[in-house]
Amino acid sequence: MTSPPGAERVGIICPVYDAGIPVLVVEFAKRLNLTGTAYVFAVVTMGGVGVSALHQLNGIVKPPPPGEIP
Ligand SMILES: Cc1cc2nc3c(=O)[nH]c(=O)nc-3n(C[C@H](O)[C@H](O)[C@H](O)COP(=O)(O)O)c2cc1C
Repeated sequence: MTSPPGAERVGIICPVYDAGIPVLVVEFAKRLNLTGTAYVFAVVTMGGVGVSALHQLNGIVKPPPPGEIP
């Protein structure tokens, strides 16, 4: 599993492709182990509309609510 050992902050920076994040970035984000990471941020570059890409990324990296199995 991809893991930034001991990282307090993790940033993902990528372009918006087809109102989302590139497949390569989806696969990378799914493999991140963010246990112990206090702050995660993202920056997307785009041609005009990019908020859906940030929502998509948030859905991947956001921890599930307590009690919910990821
Ligand atoms: C295949 C492809 C799909 C794209 N889809 C979107 C999109 O849905 N929304 C958007 O705002 N920009 C889109 N873009 C623009 C890229 O986000 C933009 O080219 C990238 O952020 C780099 O910026 P630059 O071209 O100014 O260097 C797309 C670009 C490509 C090549």
